[in-house]
Amino acid sequence: MQNGLILSIFFLLILVFLGIVLTSMTSVLFVAVIFTPKEVVKEIVKIMNAKADDKVVDLGSGDGRVLIEMVKGVKVKAFGYDISPIMVLYSKLNRFLALGFKSPITFDVVSLFDLKYNEYDIIYCNLNAKIMSRLSSKFTKQLSGTKVFSYIYPIEGKKPYKKHILSNKQALFEYRY
Ligand SMILES: C[S@@+](CC[C@H](N)C(=O)[O-])C[C@H]1O[C@@H](n2cnc3c(N)ncnc32)[C@H](O)[C@@H]1O
Repeated sequence: MQNGLILSIFFLLILVFLGIVLTSMTSVLFVAVIFTPKEVVKEIVKIMNAKADDKVVDLGSGDGRVLIEMVKGVKVKAFGYDISPIMVLYSKLNRFLALGFKSPITFDVVSLFDLKYNEYDIIYCNLNAKIMSRLSSKFTKQLSGTKVFSYIYPIEGKKPYKKHILSNKQALFEYRY
């Protein structure tokens, strides 16, 4: 019994360790974990102007701040996917602290490259130039009637519908497919 408990704690610690390693590798190799700054989250949510029942996804959802802010104002169906289990745990904790047990946000560990983008009305990205470049052709092939918003990084080869300059002087690119 006691051995089982010790073994469980040991495996849990290994899982947390692997999560931290994966998060660090993701950050260093692919995209820096720089969340959307708190001072512009409300502004971005307002610009995205989601309507009730819209399906909204944050690709690489980090600590979940954008979706959590959005569902406070409008009853969307929100999905946040991140490759890092630690980030997903963190976003679930934040979701609980902000919204309690009942919330319309799903957070899950999924690579953003494995998603079907055409399931969503609004896509939010705070990623990097390399990832946006990989997403560009996928969006063109799959999307129709979807709004895509990208913080700082434009989508290669696609003319923005609008370039919003935020109060922190950074750009939010809006695309219509
Ligand atoms: C710059 S942070 C943005 C977090 C959040 N969207 C925000 O705006 O505050 C980018 C996030 O993307 C995640 N990420 C990087 N590559 C990914 C991939 N291939 N699939 C899913 N998430 C990924 C990182 O773990 C990180 O949490």
